[in-house]
Amino acid sequence: MEEKLVGEEFSLQALCDGHALVPSPLVQDHKRAYEGDKGPNTGGMGSYSDADHRLLFVTPQDFEGALETMRKTVAAMAARGTPFKGILYGGFMATKDGPKLLEFNVRFADPESMNVLPILEDDFLESCQALTEGHLPASLRFAHQATVCKYVVPMGYGSHPRAGEQLKVDEDSIRQTGAKLYYASVDEKGGHLYTTTSRSLAIVGIAANLEEAESISEEALAFIAGSFYARRDIGKPDVIQRKVERMQKIRQG
Ligand code: GLY
Repeated sequence: MEEKLVGEEFSLQALCDGHALVPSPLVQDHKRAYEGDKGPNTGGMGSYSDADHRLLFVTPQDFEGALETMRKTVAAMAARGTPFKGILYGGFMATKDGPKLLEFNVRFADPESMNVLPILEDDFLESCQALTEGHLPASLRFAHQATVCKYVVPMGYGSHPRAGEQLKVDEDSIRQTGAKLYYASVDEKGGHLYTTTSRSLAIVGIAANLEEAESISEEALAFIAGSFYARRDIGKPDVIQRKVERMQKIRQG
């Protein structure tokens, strides 16, 4: 038996040095395969984060509540003599009764790591070193930029993914759009790339606001040819606005 939660999911990833918990910007993942959050659950089709490091449908109280849940967990681990050092990723649902913890993972989230790590202004390795030595700073510096990540996946991903389809990736043109390109699961044969049954690659647009970040991701996707699927709705302003309105209705009961 599980409690049914109605709301919008958000991800909070933090570095933890055994005592201090240092959060990164909030991100929303999109687990459903098809646009409009329909279809089978997947490993995540894409994600976005906003320039102010918050999400429009997450209230300041939701954010503080989620952070408090993570801080209490870390404090309890330290109190029982097993302090946690590493990355703590909380998957939360914003509901009318506040944020509810869905799951903890002791790793960065995928795709959400691709939203936060490219805008980290502090040195990542030095931060990891501080984490292992138990003296993380009170906060890490992240650029005030919005990010939109879209995964390119094989056709049928989520139910019957079609492996072995050739993908033509024009890396130079993608680079010129300013987008980042991260390969995930592709096969290379004879100098050509082919889909596997898993997600193929991710494109991340980064800009001063979500609208620009989303259009950069779309511009870059145009330089990938082949038989693939990507959720085009992720990070689009009207889609985010609908999520905000949905949460307002949920909160009003
Ligand atoms: N974004 C879901 C996960 O990393 O598990």
